[in-house]
Amino acid sequence: MRVLVLGGTTEARQLYVALEQRADRFAVTVSLAGATRAPVLPALDVRIGGFGGIDGLRDWLLAHHIEAVIDATHPFAVQMSNHAVAACAQAHVKLLRIARPGWTPVAGDCWTCVPDMQAAACALGVTPRRVLLTVGRKDLLPFHHAGPHDWLLRCVDAPDPALLPAGTRLLLARGPFDEAGEEALLRRERIDVIVTKNSGGTATQAKLAAARRLGLGVIMVERPSVAPAQTVPDAAAAMAWLESLSGLHGKPAHKKSCK
Ligand SMILES: NC(=O)c1ccc[n+]([C@@H]2O[C@H](COP(=O)([O-])OP(=O)(O)OC[C@H]3O[C@@H](n4cnc5c(N)ncnc54)[C@H](OP(=O)(O)O)[C@@H]3O)[C@@H](O)[C@H]2O)c1
Repeated sequence: MRVLVLGGTTEARQLYVALEQRADRFAVTVSLAGATRAPVLPALDVRIGGFGGIDGLRDWLLAHHIEAVIDATHPFAVQMSNHAVAACAQAHVKLLRIARPGWTPVAGDCWTCVPDMQAAACALGVTPRRVLLTVGRKDLLPFHHAGPHDWLLRCVDAPDPALLPAGTRLLLARGPFDEAGEEALLRRERIDVIVTKNSGGTATQAKLAAARRLGLGVIMVERPSVAPAQTVPDAAAAMAWLESLSGLHGKPAHKKSCK
């Protein structure tokens, strides 16, 4: 069964491990955007770079006889997810999305939930604060016009310096992060507030527990809306879906009676 996995997340990497064991059943291509300079590559067929919009993805699915697509992209990679919905519908290919649950506040958390990056920048206010930005390296423009804050940006790859708010210090690091390390970072940098996307998952969750312990505020950018699709929460459920689909694969739609 020919499968395309749209990757770029922890869940995608977990799915690759399961699929690597099932080469007898699944012929898998993993697709990465090419955004990360040194991505973790699976022992599967990998293609890198965009498809060229909805039409490009539809044509690629048809040309490669893909029978199922797993959208394992990040909850904020909305354009890719929307393209997958449209292209799979046009090409009559089955689509499953892995959408890890978002984070929810617990007792002791001090979150300000905002709908987008612009609102996050406004929520910081005008009094100078020491801010840990963990929003990736692409969505930084709104922070150029925020108050006179001291910025520490943590991301996997260094951004174009022109995209950085003035005076931003960079911390290049790839998760997962643990609570002790996060608390030490927040103390050492005398951070007042964290700005983060509501990515969900465990890899980058420790900063929230560390902020809770230190009584720090968190500005939480909520997830953007995305076109509806059949969804599961994790890689194991996606693998089960693929296995059940491949069980049906090749069976006739209607059984003839032998009587
Ligand atoms: N956004 C985040 O916060 C975030 C965080 C961690 C990881 N990531 C990962 O980084 C990648 C890019 O994220 P993004 O937010 O820039 O996506 P996006 O805004 O939704 O997508 C922009 C364009 O990048 C291409 N693209 C995205 N994901 C792709 C994939 N897996 N394979 C091939 N092309 C892909 C597509 O180009 P075409 O239209 O030309 O096909 C898409 O239209 C995704 O794989 C995502 O899982 C994103």
